[in-house]
Amino acid sequence: MDGTTRERLSQIQAIPLPERVVKYWARVETFQASNEDLLIATYPKAGTTWIQEVVDSILNEGDVEKCKRAPTQMRMPFLEMTASDGSSSGITKLEVMDPPRVIKTHLPVQLVPRSFWDAGCKVIYVARNPKDTVVSYYHFDRMNLYQPEPGPWSQYLEKFMKGQLGWGSWYDHVKGYWRERHNKKILYILYEDMKEDPVREVTHIAQFLKRQLSKSTIEHIVQMTAFSAMRENPMANYSTIPDSIFDRTASEFMRKGEVGDWKNHFSAEEDAVFEEHYHKIMSDCPIAIRFTI
Ligand code: PPS
Repeated sequence: MDGTTRERLSQIQAIPLPERVVKYWARVETFQASNEDLLIATYPKAGTTWIQEVVDSILNEGDVEKCKRAPTQMRMPFLEMTASDGSSSGITKLEVMDPPRVIKTHLPVQLVPRSFWDAGCKVIYVARNPKDTVVSYYHFDRMNLYQPEPGPWSQYLEKFMKGQLGWGSWYDHVKGYWRERHNKKILYILYEDMKEDPVREVTHIAQFLKRQLSKSTIEHIVQMTAFSAMRENPMANYSTIPDSIFDRTASEFMRKGEVGDWKNHFSAEEDAVFEEHYHKIMSDCPIAIRFTI
């Protein structure tokens, strides 16, 4: 790796974002959502791809072949993401798709284009406990050659706690959508709840999407979207992204898919500092985040 593709972060309204996202921000901000569009919003590494696959499976009533029609990023474009020259982007993909579209974003709630709220779009927000999130993000930044260099783990963890990684503060992100969940059509779900009882959570998502599915279809969707199944599915595991972008010798996109892997990364001292900071900063927001299940 010669370092030439690694990008710096720039800012929109004080939120750090990849430079290329900032460069083409105007067309994200002015994107016209339709009332039928569904937004899947997450802080990076919260289980976005998993929920995208669940949603596509629900919308296609568990039809495996339909869900394999194209890779994740083609079926459900990433709103703000763009090639460095702007030629291929979430917006260019969305412009040639008819609503209802399923759209991925990592934008914090205040940066979501206004048209989503004006149109009354439904949003599924997924939060994952911050310790597993930062571990997953760290490994992702090691393998994604367009992300800034992660540097040493201990410094990376500090940056996460200070909100200096791409898409900003995890704490502000999860709180922002939490506070808006009753004002807007937001289904707020937790990665750990999905791991604990996927049948229960997939049923909630189907109800939110007003899809009547049989128990056996729900169970089939849970199997299709299990980590082991998605890891082997080339349309759901990002294996279509070239090695020049994802350095698979460094890490994998479908890495572990577990709750509690943070225990293999945090030292006792790092955990103590993190816990104190976490409880201080989250004391005003009662989200039932769990670090183990
Ligand atoms: S991204 O790049 O922000 O969109 O990544 P995202 O999809 O949000 O998060 C990637 C992590 O989610 C795990 N993953 C899953 N976990 C459980 N079940 C399923 N089906 C599943 N699919 C993806 C993936 O392995 C990443 O977590 P880690 O901890 O790194 O394994």
